[in-house]
Amino acid sequence: MIDGLNPEDPGWRALVRQLERVAPPSCLWLYSGEPPRPRGELLRAISDLRERSEASVPTVDPAVLDAPDPIGARRFAAAAMWPRAHLGKDFTLAAMARAAMHLEDEGALYLVARKQKGGKSLAAAMDRLFGDVEVVARDKGYHLYRSARTKGLDETLAQSWLSQRYPISDPRLDGLELEAAPGVFSRRGLDRGTAALIDAAREQIEVAPSRVLDLCCGVGPLGLWAAARWPDARVDLVDSHLIAVGLARHNAARLGLEGRAQVHAHDGLDPALFERRYDLALINPPTHAPPEALQALVAPLARVLAPQGRALFVVNRAGRILEALEAAGLRAQTLARGDYAIVSARAGGDD
Ligand SMILES: C[S@@+](CC[C@H](N)C(=O)[O-])C[C@H]1O[C@@H](n2cnc3c(N)ncnc32)[C@H](O)[C@@H]1O
Repeated sequence: MIDGLNPEDPGWRALVRQLERVAPPSCLWLYSGEPPRPRGELLRAISDLRERSEASVPTVDPAVLDAPDPIGARRFAAAAMWPRAHLGKDFTLAAMARAAMHLEDEGALYLVARKQKGGKSLAAAMDRLFGDVEVVARDKGYHLYRSARTKGLDETLAQSWLSQRYPISDPRLDGLELEAAPGVFSRRGLDRGTAALIDAAREQIEVAPSRVLDLCCGVGPLGLWAAARWPDARVDLVDSHLIAVGLARHNAARLGLEGRAQVHAHDGLDPALFERRYDLALINPPTHAPPEALQALVAPLARVLAPQGRALFVVNRAGRILEALEAAGLRAQTLARGDYAIVSARAGGDD
């Protein structure tokens, strides 16, 4: 489970109780973990492929939900969300706006939050967006807020929250400009670890690679930088975060690199790429991934790295990635330790 929600939490209970009480015929459940058993029809909006599970109700990807097609244009009697602070307030505002645009007239958004931990300011945002907000339940510091879609809905504000983008430009990117959006990693600027990995690649890689892998690509800084630096290279970028994948594709197209830079939505390395042989992989892995997840991410590298190919990682501390790489049968060594560690791995032979 990547969302870390606790179904015993009073906030969760208040939200579920309320939905059971009002029993809406259709409900859009947004970015709030595994939903409860639906009474009516429930559609779950997800932002990461890893949120899909066997037991889950049907899911909808961000691009589909925002598209002007029959699914994107669908309206619901209710929408529900339990925002997680680590995703950022801008992501919550965009989700609220998305909910508002998908409600039918008089349909309601239910949002649960701790009043003292951001709840007050989210309620103020609901008030601005819908023109009204009320508290419909309280439980151990949690407030359950409700706003209904009426003529008071500020659609211009909703569109501005939905279309929020951040430019990423940094001298390390050799003039490339990228776009990021709420919910993705390091949306307000190039991550310092990513910058350190670009420096290391510039220094370490003397022969232009012909195939490059950017696993865990986010909005694409490493893979797109590599595609621009080595004009004959073909680059595969992979991420499970669907908003990041959409932005990486958009960035590749904006930079005219889409012919050589292909972006794949996948949890871990896409098996469609297992027959490829990469000369170089540039990887800034998720910082808080548990050891098994890290292991699963790096294991396929043993088969996809070319005999002389290498993977360069940036991490806070080298210990866990070294263990995962060695367990996968790769030969790994730490090249630099500082604020960030740079780790190099090869499928075979000495480094
Ligand atoms: C530290 S960020 C790096 C993003 C980007 N490479 C950069 O440098 O800005 C890690 C990325 O790994 C992605 N990720 C985490 N687990 C993953 C998995 N199992 N499969 C694919 N991508 C994953 C996250 O969505 C996130 O975009």
